Amino acid sequence: ANITYIEASGQSTTVSLNDGWSLMQGATANGIDGILGECGGSCACATCHCYVDEARLGDLPAASEGELDMLENVAAERRPNSRLACQIKASAALEGLIIHLPATQE
Ligand code: FES
Repeated sequence: ANITYIEASGQSTTVSLNDGWSLMQGATANGIDGILGECGGSCACATCHCYVDEARLGDLPAASEGELDMLENVAAERRPNSRLACQIKASAALEGLIIHLPATQE
């Protein structure tokens, strides 16, 4: 699926992600600075915080208990559309998804 990352600076990057790749992997593999992913995707660091386009929230599987717990540790403001990018896997349902990245991850 094509995913568009918009960094806090306004810089926009669209990458094509194979199904099963997490949105965190898509960012770090493509040089997108706004996501760190320090724990490697095991839902243990909260440095892959992102804001999902509200209109598309329903296209994503709901956040797990572990993700909701870890979202309490994000560095930037937590919002209703806050998610952890490592817990969102690319699939056809996410085609064209836009996510905004916070100004800071730590
Ligand atoms: Fe660590 Fe997502 S990469 S919580």
